[in-house]
Amino acid sequence: MPTASAEIPVKVLSGSHPGAIVQGVGVNDIGPHNLDALKAALAEHGVLVFRDQKLTPANLIAFGQQFGELENSTRQDFLLPNYEKIYVLSNVKDENGKPIGNADDGYQLHTDQYFFEHPTAYTLLYCLEAPPVGSDTIFCSTKTLYEEMSDEEKRKYAAMTIMASHDKLNGGRHNTGAYADYPDIPQPVVRRHPLTGNDFLYFSAKLSARPAPGMTEQEVLDMIDDLRERATAPGRVYSHKWQVGDLVIWDNRGLLHAATPFDKVNHRRICHRISVKGERPIRGGLPASSGVAAE
Ligand SMILES: [Fe+2]
Repeated sequence: MPTASAEIPVKVLSGSHPGAIVQGVGVNDIGPHNLDALKAALAEHGVLVFRDQKLTPANLIAFGQQFGELENSTRQDFLLPNYEKIYVLSNVKDENGKPIGNADDGYQLHTDQYFFEHPTAYTLLYCLEAPPVGSDTIFCSTKTLYEEMSDEEKRKYAAMTIMASHDKLNGGRHNTGAYADYPDIPQPVVRRHPLTGNDFLYFSAKLSARPAPGMTEQEVLDMIDDLRERATAPGRVYSHKWQVGDLVIWDNRGLLHAATPFDKVNHRRICHRISVKGERPIRGGLPASSGVAAE
């Protein structure tokens, strides 16, 4: 049943998982007057789906910029020509046989740009071509995961830190340019949402995690395995089946997501992604008044 979330009409998807459909709204009609409502709906539902959008690259950028500063991708080889803020996910090759986008990205459950000092707040993904089967993006909530923990467990995680590592994610290779020698960043395992004050578990793929002092690498990896398994328990995952014209926006605070495979030999996929810079993570699990920064 449709419910009103301030000025953004959303239909909450049934089930114990994140996600809501925004009905009858063209993204190009959303302006500053309803942006707060949109952010509130994102904080509440994690993922918002807009169907049947018609967005040029310039439209997508103009809309995304309303959320804040757009990020640069760490992967310079898959940017849309003439639009350096748009990162292309695709298995399509151009007339010279060069891939127009990244065909193999994000298959491990993760949160975007975890390894940044100011990780991604919002990700916007717009679908231009979709295969008939596969390529779903799956989402699960780490806010629900935290809220269901015992007080003892909440306290345990609230004291913990993971070193988020771009270097490890890239297999020890150093990227050139702005991301060469990008340092590991300490991230709190319990993080507080800056708009709602709600706490959630904050972790990403094992590929980007190193231990903070006091833990071993294996302890961190085991912890992530356990938390990921609990976050994706039956009924807790929303699997988005892409249609051409879908714009999906998610709030990376309190949410994990992953790509899934499709038949890349016989079908095409093209999605344009932009992402919005977030705040320095705030450690949660403490009284709201203390508002202590991560480190
Ligand atoms: Fe991602």
